[in-house]
Amino acid sequence: MRILSGIQPSGRLHIGNYFGMMEPSIGLQNEGEAFYFIADYHALTSIHDPQGLRENVQDLAIDFLACGLDPEKATFWRQSDVPEVTELAWILSCVTPMGFLERCVSYKDKIAQGVTPSHGLFAYPVLQAADILIFDSNVVPVGKDQKQHLEVTRDIAGKFNDRYGDELLVVPEPRIRDETATVPGLDGQKMSKSYNNTIDIFEDTEKKLRKKIMKIVTDSTPVEAPKNPHGSYIVQLYSLFASEAEVDEMKVSFQAGGQGYGHYKQTLFEKIRDYFAPMRERRAQLIADPDYVNGVLEEGAKKSRAQAAKVMDRVRAAVGIGK
Ligand code: ADP
Ligand code: TRP
Repeated sequence: MRILSGIQPSGRLHIGNYFGMMEPSIGLQNEGEAFYFIADYHALTSIHDPQGLRENVQDLAIDFLACGLDPEKATFWRQSDVPEVTELAWILSCVTPMGFLERCVSYKDKIAQGVTPSHGLFAYPVLQAADILIFDSNVVPVGKDQKQHLEVTRDIAGKFNDRYGDELLVVPEPRIRDETATVPGLDGQKMSKSYNNTIDIFEDTEKKLRKKIMKIVTDSTPVEAPKNPHGSYIVQLYSLFASEAEVDEMKVSFQAGGQGYGHYKQTLFEKIRDYFAPMRERRAQLIADPDYVNGVLEEGAKKSRAQAAKVMDRVRAAVGIGK
C-alpha cells in the first residue's frame, strides 16, 4: 500500500493540521510505503514573498520531523524537487472538464477570504491530483476539508483512464478520521490560519500557549452552576489529547458545577503543553542541525523523483508525447 500526503508551507502549524494530517500520516508510516511532501508549488497561490516561502518550507520540514516523521520509513521531499508534477498537471488539465473545478468550494472560500483569484488558484486541484497520481498512491490521509479535492482527483483519474486506457492511473482513497475530521478553533469554527483562531503546536512560549487557551469561547454559565459538556470546545479539544477516562472525568465535573471554565482551560493547557513537550525538544535539536534536515529532503527528492519518472513514462507513452 502506498500512502501519500502533502501540506502547504503556508505558516505555522496548528492543532488542526496536526490531527487532520500530520498525526495520521505519521501513524500510517508503519503500515505501508509512505510518501510525504511539502507543497511549495501550491503555496505560490497565496505566498508571494520568496524569502518567506523559503523559511516556511524549512520550518515545516523541521516541524514535521519533530512531530515524528521518520525518514527511515517515509520518503519526505519538497514538491518542487519533482518538477514532473507540473508536467503531469498540464496533461491532466487536458482531460479535466471545467465543471470539476467550477464546483470546488475551496476556490470560492479562498477568494471570499481575500486571496487573489488566479489561474493557479483555480487549477490548484489539478496540481493536487498530479501530486497524488504521479506516485500511484493508494491512500491519502487528510482533514475533512480536503475531501472534495480527493473526489476531484478520483474523477480526473477516471477521465484519464477512460480516454487513454483502463488502470493507467491508480484511483486513490482518502483517509479521513472521524474523530479529528474537523478540529474546532478558539471560536468553535474550523481551526484555520485564515480564521485567526488557531492554537499552534509550537507556540513561542508556554505563556503564549496558555493565553491562547484562555481565549477559547465559552458561554456565561456561572462558576457554581452545572455546565453542559456537549458542544464545549474545551471538552472537544481535550478529547484529542486526553484518555477516555480523563475526558469522562472532565465531563462529570462539568455537570456537577462548582468550577469555572478557567479551571478546565488550565487542565487543557497543561495537557497540550505536556503532549508537545518531547516534540518541542526534538525541534530544538533539528533547528540546530540544518544539514541533517537538508540531507533528508535531498534524499527524499531523489527517491520520489525516481518513482515519479516511472509513472511519467507510462503517461507520456499513453498520451502520445515523446518517442
Ligand atoms: P489552514 O486551514 O489553517 O490553512 P490547511 O488548509 O493548510 O490549513 O490544511 C493543511 C492540512 O491540515 C490539510 O490536510 C487539512 O485537511 C488539515 N486541517 C487543517 N485544518 C484542520 C482542522 N481544523 N481540522 C482537521 N484538519 C485540518
Ligand atoms: N491541498 C492540500 C492542503 O491544503 C495540500 C496538498 C497538496 C495535498 N497536494 C496534496 C494533500 C496531495 C494531499 C495530497 O492541505
